[in-house]
Amino acid sequence: MKNILSIVAKQTKNNQTNAQASVVFVVDKNLKHHFVNEKQLKEFDYKGEGVFFVQETKTLYIGIERIDSDCLREAGCAAVRYFKNLHYENFKIGVYGDDKCMYALILGMYLGVYQFDKYKSNKKEGVLKQIFIVNEGYDKKFKLPEEDLMIRAQIVAQAMSDVRDVVNMIPYEATPEFLAKWSKQIAKTHKLECNILGKKELKKEKMNAFLAVNRASVNDPYLIHLSYKPKKAKTKIVLVGKGLTYDCGGLSLKPSDFMVTMKADKSGGCAVIGILQAVASLKLPIEVHGIVGATENMIGGDAYKPDDVLFSREGKSIEVRNTDAEGRLVLADCLSYAQDLKPDYLVDFATLTGACVVGLGEYTSGIMGYNKDLKDRFETLALQSGELVAQLPFNKHLEKLVESKIADICNVAGSRYGGAITAGIFLGAFIRKEFREKWLHIDIAGPAFVEKDWDVNTYGASAAGVRAGIEFINDIALRG
Ligand code: BES
Ligand code: ZN
Ligand code: ZN
Repeated sequence: MKNILSIVAKQTKNNQTNAQASVVFVVDKNLKHHFVNEKQLKEFDYKGEGVFFVQETKTLYIGIERIDSDCLREAGCAAVRYFKNLHYENFKIGVYGDDKCMYALILGMYLGVYQFDKYKSNKKEGVLKQIFIVNEGYDKKFKLPEEDLMIRAQIVAQAMSDVRDVVNMIPYEATPEFLAKWSKQIAKTHKLECNILGKKELKKEKMNAFLAVNRASVNDPYLIHLSYKPKKAKTKIVLVGKGLTYDCGGLSLKPSDFMVTMKADKSGGCAVIGILQAVASLKLPIEVHGIVGATENMIGGDAYKPDDVLFSREGKSIEVRNTDAEGRLVLADCLSYAQDLKPDYLVDFATLTGACVVGLGEYTSGIMGYNKDLKDRFETLALQSGELVAQLPFNKHLEKLVESKIADICNVAGSRYGGAITAGIFLGAFIRKEFREKWLHIDIAGPAFVEKDWDVNTYGASAAGVRAGIEFINDIALRG
């Protein structure tokens, strides 16, 4: 979706900005705020909670707990959603908090316009076109947001909207080939390199685990390799994404109810593509590669089977006991390819396990890896970006569970407990010693697809991983 909303910051004196409506945040139920018409609100018995619109003054009051990034991002989104389908072309809003707060507020407002109506006959055109951020002299301690901060929010929101659009697309359209074409398009617009490996090249690369997952699909697999190489970059980050454009489970077929939403099994791959788009637009001074393993996991006479043994690119043999644990097979080969690029940091994003959703709930992504400092760093930055994350620790007892009697490793663990971690441990077995401390695995299975609106997310794809990934890369670019 192209963002049609324009947000402008204006320094004006008392009530000089003519807008059709105003938004006022009521902080911690405090109706004594400068902007608040206390008497009027009391008359309506509004106590500073939730959303309340006063027709006479065309003012929308939104209660927030406190002035911080998380509250403002969510409230900004709520304000836009409120006006989106009404007949207001614009509204004005004051300045709340420091730069970080204002960035979150602006990002939330951009995300509020998102809607996915590609398959609706009646597309509702939003009327809301413009938001004025004004500092009408009420609050001297806050300053208007700078231009670059506003552009940054717009770039991140645009990447998220694009990722949501593609993840929301039906599997009949959003095929591996489509992801490859989309990547090429982004590469052209943002001057990235884009290298696409088809079936022939994947065979040459000995990516037999990846190829086995694809076997029963009528759609060819593609490995997408996007690279952003600015001059004088000192650090190299390689991102890897699971791009399953559909996961029916294969011969270990999913029950019907679990199959619905599996078009979103490409979320990790799409997030990686979106992050590359944003990193290039932001012109971050760091080398970033995005590698996406794009395929379907289907069923048919040619399907790979439980009992098969696959010979991966990294040289390890894999016993297949469940064809629905396909993401780790695709990622094993993609991570192998990624390590040849000699990254300083290697991060994969994947909707890898239902167990991660059971363990952490549907709002939180799992962070795994061998390097505690790196996990801590990613956790802090992801939370700062507005994404919920938590660490899931490996241990030597769980490590034993992926042993196989007939091959080097088994694609499912011997116990159903700790399934998110044992999947992470499986991936870890394909990470060479020299990259163990540089690698992170992010399981986004929970938040990637939203069944009920929450925070800045509306029904459908959320673009999980995009904000966290950009924040992480930006921090590495700044501090190494
Ligand atoms: N794509 C699924 C994981 C998933 C589940 C993502 C729910 C989003 C929501 C993955 O390929 C899968 O099916 N994993 C299996 C692994 C099991 C067979 C060891 C799972 O989680 O059940
Ligand atoms: Zn699966
Ligand atoms: Zn899957």
